[in-house]
Amino acid sequence: MRILLLGDLHGNRPATQALDEALKDIPRDVTWFLGDAVGKGPSSVFTCDWVREHCDHWIGGNWDYGIGGQEFPEDGYYWNQLGPERMAWLNGLPREAELTLAGVRFRLFHGRPVTELLQGDTPNADLAAVLTTESGTFGGAVFADSHRPFVRTVRGGYVCNTGSVGNSMGMPRVHCLLLEDAPLRMTVLSIPYDNEAAAEDARRDPDLPHRDAWIREVLTGRYSR
Ligand SMILES: [Fe+2]
Repeated sequence: MRILLLGDLHGNRPATQALDEALKDIPRDVTWFLGDAVGKGPSSVFTCDWVREHCDHWIGGNWDYGIGGQEFPEDGYYWNQLGPERMAWLNGLPREAELTLAGVRFRLFHGRPVTELLQGDTPNADLAAVLTTESGTFGGAVFADSHRPFVRTVRGGYVCNTGSVGNSMGMPRVHCLLLEDAPLRMTVLSIPYDNEAAAEDARRDPDLPHRDAWIREVLTGRYSR
């Protein structure tokens, strides 16, 4: 069994196209979307439609609910792009799911709003806390939201982050996570893409909110907002 998990596409068309091309050589049984298809970048329609077409299961992220629920008036740019049907779909996404692979029960969620922002340098005890919920104890967790991929062990299990497809911090590449069994493997995939094309998409759209910060992030991988 090979399970691909990905998230945080954030309206980055060139990054999503590079992922799409790379996936032709990555056989897999199931693809999970772990939230944040939209927002930030200029191509939310493209990335929203891509996850709907190419993923098998979907979990919502803080941007999906914020935009889908029209929570923040400053996000009107994205509401207008997406339209009511996509926003209703985004707003109705489940917040959590689980899967069991090689005897390990994994909890799947985006990060916010289910938890606070959990990152690669979050202390072990805080990461371990996500392994226990009202529905029981998990041997692993996979989430997104931090925009940096990692695989860690903490008391009680594995804690893995998919990284981000379209808004990576650190290395500005496409990242996602592959889980395989027999034996259990947890692999970060790192795929280069045309960062300059992503910046150019934004330069051509003067209405994009926080445009300069977005351009700097896709070119450098440095958080800029
Ligand atoms: Fe995100």
